[in-house]
Amino acid sequence: MSKRVAILISGGGSNMVSLCEDMVGDHPARPCLVLSNNPDAGGLAKAAARGIETVAIDHRPFGKDRAAFDAAVTDALERAEPDVICLAGFMRILTPEFTARWEGRMLNIHPSLLPKYKGLNTHARAIEAGDAEAGCSVHEVTAELDGGPILGQARVPILEGDTPDGLAARILPLEHKLYPAVLRRFIKGERELLNLS
Ligand code: GRF
Repeated sequence: MSKRVAILISGGGSNMVSLCEDMVGDHPARPCLVLSNNPDAGGLAKAAARGIETVAIDHRPFGKDRAAFDAAVTDALERAEPDVICLAGFMRILTPEFTARWEGRMLNIHPSLLPKYKGLNTHARAIEAGDAEAGCSVHEVTAELDGGPILGQARVPILEGDTPDGLAARILPLEHKLYPAVLRRFIKGERELLNLS
């Protein structure tokens, strides 16, 4: 019986697409839901075009009531019954109640070499700090933002004259390789760090 994977997005969904394109053939899982907090997220149409169920729960009507928004997301997820949840460019800070509810089966991709540069503007901060390299990480989600156990990383050298956009453009294709590779291992119960070069 295939495992069920729900994917949470806020934007274009290129990581979601790479996960779905990998979940075919002998892959032990299949996508069961793509959910977005942004009804205009380009990724929703890409998921629907693949015949994947989609849900949009607009966070704006919830205002500052994060718990109520997260509770609505949990309701939608419980209906989809996922074994694993992948955050893929889901730009919402989650409540501790939500991370506790799904802890141990929720992953996130973050565009830095964690534990460095949690939060936003990761590439600009790596360049400003004069780092020699940058990259991306897949980690388990816990209550600490971008702070859970790291399961995979991929890196690129930072080149003379690099810009945040230029770096992002070189790292995103690595994200599209790293996340599917880590998801396959995670579903098989493998938790050792995967270094993709
Ligand atoms: C990715 O760079 C991801 O690391 C970050 O948000 C971006 C989402 O891109 N959290 P996409 O929507 O998957 O194309």
